[in-house]
Amino acid sequence: MRVLVIGTGGREHALALALARDPGVSEVHAAPGNPGIGEVATLHDVDPMDGGAVAALARAIGAGLVVVGPEAPLVAGVADAVTAVGIPCFGPSAEAARLEGSKAFAKEVMNAAGVPTADARFCSTPDEVAAALDAFGPPYVVKDDGLAAGKGVIVTDDRQAALDHAAGCGSVVVEEFLDGPEVSLFGICGWSERDGTTVHPLLPAQDFKRISDGDQGPNTGGMGAYTPLPWVPDDLVDEITRTVLRPTVEEMARRGTPFRGLLYAGLALTSRGLRVVEFNARFGDPETQPILALLDSPLVPLLLGAATDDLAAVPPPTWKPGAAVTVVMASKGYPETSSKGDVIVGTETLARDPHVQVIQAGTALVDGHLVTAGGRVLAVTATGTDVADARAQAYEGVAMISFPGAQWRRDIAAGR
Ligand code: AMP
Ligand code: GLY
Repeated sequence: MRVLVIGTGGREHALALALARDPGVSEVHAAPGNPGIGEVATLHDVDPMDGGAVAALARAIGAGLVVVGPEAPLVAGVADAVTAVGIPCFGPSAEAARLEGSKAFAKEVMNAAGVPTADARFCSTPDEVAAALDAFGPPYVVKDDGLAAGKGVIVTDDRQAALDHAAGCGSVVVEEFLDGPEVSLFGICGWSERDGTTVHPLLPAQDFKRISDGDQGPNTGGMGAYTPLPWVPDDLVDEITRTVLRPTVEEMARRGTPFRGLLYAGLALTSRGLRVVEFNARFGDPETQPILALLDSPLVPLLLGAATDDLAAVPPPTWKPGAAVTVVMASKGYPETSSKGDVIVGTETLARDPHVQVIQAGTALVDGHLVTAGGRVLAVTATGTDVADARAQAYEGVAMISFPGAQWRRDIAAGR
């Protein structure tokens, strides 16, 4: 089968690598992709936001499955456009992607489904924001209601900073602060008239969202991740599947807008129990990199099963033993600014290491040289016998790569 991956980041590179390993896949194609993806896939210069163009490309190459990586095309209806021409597409409809596209909608669904989440107020004026901040008290949590690439949230003790952030957003969600460690759990979700809801959870992972060590500095798209999490209770995945993922997918089906795709639950394990921090409607970045590095069973049956309403017939995924750790190297100035065109050296040396992958995100080829293209540049992903081993190998990999102004955290998967 030919598979087309839509997107350009590290998540899409990790997906392309996992698809290329799947014995059922004859060719991987990607649009627009990046130089790393180009090593395992045929790249096409098609706008990922243009549903008609993506559907036409899928037809032209005879794709048996399209996988939409990022949220923006999903929210814009690209999966609907592909499905409309009769090609299976992994990724929810625009209606179902609202679980990520609108925080207000996600809260409404969670409340209707009885899914535990932070108390929240929706505010569209400065007075409403001030009243909500004072009702919840510090630390203050203010979120842009729309898509903001992980950077629309401020968590601060500084009331003025919270007000200023809200003023720059338009409508916002002000919510109660959740204490406790965060966990990301992804479920491959399907729904059909015949089988009802099917959820296959993947491995739990942890993401490191702040730019600097010790969770300091501004939020980013994610600076590293690891899986599995040796410190979570054995039944955590079952509990999240039962209390969060399933009821949400069931509520979406009840509303006539079934969720078919990957539901990403970002959770806080608070002193009062688990709470959803956010939903995303697609694979998370960078958690996907270590999760897929441990996937032992083929990826296509899961994605195709969800896309064709036959997920109930697909066995749950199986995993390699051990652990995987991903360390992101970001460009100079990220996340405030972005630097482009800095030459990257060292990736070739790592290409021969069976335990370490250099997963590319913001890269470009200029005159045959790999250079930075801004934002998060690449993600060094290593597998090992346990988290400490994988972590040591990931940081050895990072030490072999350099580009001017590279930033990375030294404390990814360092233990809690
Ligand atoms: P979000 O875009 O909703 O995932 O928020 C980004 C990050 O902000 C989360 O991963 C948390 O680290 C932090 N955050 C969001 N909501 C809360 C909350 N209610 N309490 C504490 N931290 C939060
Ligand atoms: N890892 C955060 C995200 O993908 O939104």
